[in-house]
Amino acid sequence: MTAATAPSIEAFAGRQRPGYSLEQPFYTDPAIFERDMQRIVSHQWLFVDHVARLPTPGSYLVYRIAGESIVLVKGRDGQVRAFFNVCRHRGSLICLEDAGSTRTLTCPYHGWVYDLEGRLIHAKNMPADFDAAAWPLHPCQVRVFEGLVFINLGREDDPATMPFDPLADALGRYLRPNRLDKAKIVARKTYPTHGNWKLAVENFRECYHCAPAHPEYTMVNAYVKAGDDNPGSYQAVTRAWADAWAAKGHVVGNLDSTTTDRRQPYGVFRQPIREGWQTLSQDGRAVAPLMGDLKAFDCGETLVIWGPLFYVYLANDHATLFRFTPVSPTITDVVLIWLVREDAVEGRDYNVDRITWMWDVTTIQDTTIIGDNQTGVNSRRYVPGPYATLEMGTRGFVDWYVSRIA
Ligand code: FES
Ligand code: FE
Repeated sequence: MTAATAPSIEAFAGRQRPGYSLEQPFYTDPAIFERDMQRIVSHQWLFVDHVARLPTPGSYLVYRIAGESIVLVKGRDGQVRAFFNVCRHRGSLICLEDAGSTRTLTCPYHGWVYDLEGRLIHAKNMPADFDAAAWPLHPCQVRVFEGLVFINLGREDDPATMPFDPLADALGRYLRPNRLDKAKIVARKTYPTHGNWKLAVENFRECYHCAPAHPEYTMVNAYVKAGDDNPGSYQAVTRAWADAWAAKGHVVGNLDSTTTDRRQPYGVFRQPIREGWQTLSQDGRAVAPLMGDLKAFDCGETLVIWGPLFYVYLANDHATLFRFTPVSPTITDVVLIWLVREDAVEGRDYNVDRITWMWDVTTIQDTTIIGDNQTGVNSRRYVPGPYATLEMGTRGFVDWYVSRIA
């Protein structure tokens, strides 16, 4: 970011009208994208992947975000650690592949070798007084929670970062019945999206567009039409469903963090799917065995919001994870990961196409919508437009964003 552009970010944030989409530069300007990464993304607990992708000691993954490359590696002690992928010699990247298995982390440039705990264990031809112990890899904060691996690019005790434990406690209650730590990955797909990360998130946080844009999603999710036609009666249906299942010990209800912690917004929505639908499938029938500790289909769905860039959609028999990675001012990678219980057998207990059907078709539609949105926003005639009442989730995100960026 240059000194010359910095004041204009403040000016654009200052003239932002509440209840309206963002001013154009927030969706296009490289300097604002850079500030987004520094002020927002660098202070979030970011989901990287399911722990099943680090199965054995030496397994590693590389995740690139906010201009950083982070290596996640499983140690000989079974612990997952994360390091900045930056050699302590002269700064080269060390791991060049996205994933793999290794005995050591060896820099390809001059061959410095680090062990899986990040200690420098070999550096040839260094002066006699060189102290290898003083040159370990820079650690990155990492947590494994319910089988999900998170990193944080900031330093411990950074006041701009929400502590991990309260976030995990608040959301863990909703995640736990599905036991994602006892799940396996059945599909993983990347959807390159030609839109600013905020356009992708704004789109994900509202269903005003669902009826016109997502016929399959709308067919499965009764709340889309019910919310349009008669929100009061739909709320009554949801309340009756929640009361009935709470009595049987299921976790019900919603959660909204907007008034409790502004550093990393989080929340939960739970609701019934559609009369007669057990899960988010084309025909309403289950697509896999019940997950985790669940003993019965309550035929509900749960959206867990974990900051702006990670979401979990739970059905009773599978889970879909959504990871948004800002790549450039107008490109966002969206990765979806589908999970079922780890002892389910393909062909007998599930068929991958039935599990991925709804979110795959819906996400392909979303990449088109978001790309078209970005193209329109780039126009010299674009000005911020007013949000509908059904877009309150998007409005909440944009209000939060403006408060963090200015
Ligand atoms: Fe890694 Fe030289 S930069 S060994
Ligand atoms: Fe959508």
